[in-house]
Amino acid sequence: MQIRAQTIRLEEAGALSGLGAEALAVGLFSGERIQPLRQALEQLLSAAEHDAFIKRLEQRRFKAKAGECLSFERLGSRPGTLILIGLGEPEGFDLQALRTATASVCKAASALPSLALAMPLEGLAAPAAARAMAEAAQLALFADQRFKSDAEPSSQLVDVTLLGLDAAVASEIQDAGSIVRGVSLARELVAAPPNVATPQHLADIAAQLAHEHGLELKLLERSDCEALGMGAYLGVAQGSVLPPKFIHLIYRPSGPVQRRVALVGKGLTFDSGGYNLKVSGSQIELMKFDMGGSAAVLGAMRAIGELKPAGVEVHMIVAACENMISGEAVHPGDIVTASNGKTIEINNTDAEGRLTLADALVYACKLEPDALIDLATLTGACVIALGEEIAGLWSNTDGLAQALLKAGDAAGESFWRMPLRSSYKDGLKSTHADMKNTGPRPGGSITAALFLQDFIQPDVAWAHLDIAGTVWSDKGRGCDPAGATGFGVRTLVQWLLDGAVTSTAT
Ligand code: BES
Ligand code: MN
Ligand code: ZN
Repeated sequence: MQIRAQTIRLEEAGALSGLGAEALAVGLFSGERIQPLRQALEQLLSAAEHDAFIKRLEQRRFKAKAGECLSFERLGSRPGTLILIGLGEPEGFDLQALRTATASVCKAASALPSLALAMPLEGLAAPAAARAMAEAAQLALFADQRFKSDAEPSSQLVDVTLLGLDAAVASEIQDAGSIVRGVSLARELVAAPPNVATPQHLADIAAQLAHEHGLELKLLERSDCEALGMGAYLGVAQGSVLPPKFIHLIYRPSGPVQRRVALVGKGLTFDSGGYNLKVSGSQIELMKFDMGGSAAVLGAMRAIGELKPAGVEVHMIVAACENMISGEAVHPGDIVTASNGKTIEINNTDAEGRLTLADALVYACKLEPDALIDLATLTGACVIALGEEIAGLWSNTDGLAQALLKAGDAAGESFWRMPLRSSYKDGLKSTHADMKNTGPRPGGSITAALFLQDFIQPDVAWAHLDIAGTVWSDKGRGCDPAGATGFGVRTLVQWLLDGAVTSTAT
C-alpha cells in the first residue's frame, strides 16, 4: 500500500478532485455543524447530487457517533464514493480514536483502489497522527490467506492519501511501514498452524531476519542447552519429537551503545498441557498461539532491523519447543534443575511456559542487560483478570513499568500494571525441591510472575508482559482483524525508539 501526505484540506474541494482518488472519506464529530463539509461538497458535487447527499444524511439520521459510517456513491466523477465516519465527541478524540476511525474507513473503502482521507487533526501532533493513520490503514487491511487454496486479494486499496499533513511526516509514514511489517510477521507466525510454525520454523525466521538486516544469530541446539544446564526448558521439550531450538538474535547499532536490552519471548509452538492435558473448553485447538511472545519479539526485531535505532543493542531470546505427551515427556511430579541451579518440582505440566522462560531469563541476565522484558502467553488467569484488550505488566522497576505503559499508550496497545506481591510466593513452596512450578488458582498470573522473578538477577530492570488475552481476537477489533493480533510489537518498538529508558527522570 502506498501512503502519502497532502497539505490539501477538505475546504479545498477543487484540489481534492484533482487528486483523482476513487473515494473521499471525511471524519466528523458528533453534533458538529456539517458546514465545512457542505462547502466542500457544494464544490465537488452537482446541485442535484448535493441535495441527494444531504437528504441521505437526514434519512439515515447520521449523527456522527463514534464508529458510525455512511457511504454515498455517484457515477462518472471522482471521487466516486464519499464516506463519512463518525468520530463521537471531540473531547474524546485521541490517537487511538484516530486509529479506530481510520481502520473502519479503510475497511469500508477496501473494494476501491484509492482513498483520500480527511480527519480533523487540529488537536493532535502531526507526526504521531500520520504514523497512527498509516499504521491503522495497513494493519486493518492485513489479511492472511496463506493456507487457502483459492485465495483472492481481500482488499483492492493500494493508494491512501492523508489530507491536511505536509511532507515533513514522510519519515513517520515510512517508520509506520516498518512497524506494520513487524506486526504482520508476528500475526503470520501466531496464525500459522503448529505443524508449520515449529521450533525449527522460528529458528529459520530468525536466520532470515539475520540475513536480511545484518543481525547476528546464535542458535543453540539441545546439546548446547544441556551443556548450559537448562533442565527446566529441556524438560518441557523432551516430550516432543521436534527438537528444541534456543534462538538468540542480536541487533548491534552502528555507533556507540548506550543501552543493552534483552527481549525474551515465550515460544511454545504448541501447548497440549502435557500429562496435565488440556481439556475441552481450554482452547487446546488454539494453543498454536502459545508462541505469541516469541512472535512479538521476532516481529520487533524485524522492525528494528529496518529502523536501525542508534545507541541501543537488542538481544532477542526465544527458547522454542513444544509441550507434548509421550513416553519421554515429563511426569507430573518430576523435579528438574534450571541453569541457575534451582530445582523445580513440576506439579503441573501445563505450567510449562515459565519453565522454558526460567532458563531463557537466566541466559538473558548473563548478558548484563540494562533492561530485560519478557512477553508470554503465560496464564489463563491473566485472561480472566484483564480480558482480551489489556495485557498484564509486572516489573521490579517503576521507571521501566512507566516507560512501557507510556510506550503502549503511544503505540495503541493497553497494559495494566499488576503487583509482584512477594507473600504470594508461599504458594510456590515445595516440600522436596526449591520450588513448585504452580501455585493456587487465585492470583495465578501473579504467582507465575513471581516464579519468573526467581530467575532474574535482582539488579536487572525487568518487566514481564502476560499477553495471553491479547495475542488473539476472536472477532477482531479496531486495527486488528479476527485472529492473531501481533500484540506487543508496537509497544516494544515504541519503547526502543523512545531510547529504551528504565527511569522516568532523565
Ligand atoms: N499457554 C497457557 C496459558 C493460556 C491459557 C494462554 C489460555 C491463553 C489462554 C499456559 O501454558 C497454561 O497452560 N497455563 C496454565 C497454568 C496453570 C496450570 C497454573 C493456566 O493458565 O491454566
Ligand atoms: Mn500450558
Ligand atoms: Zn503455555
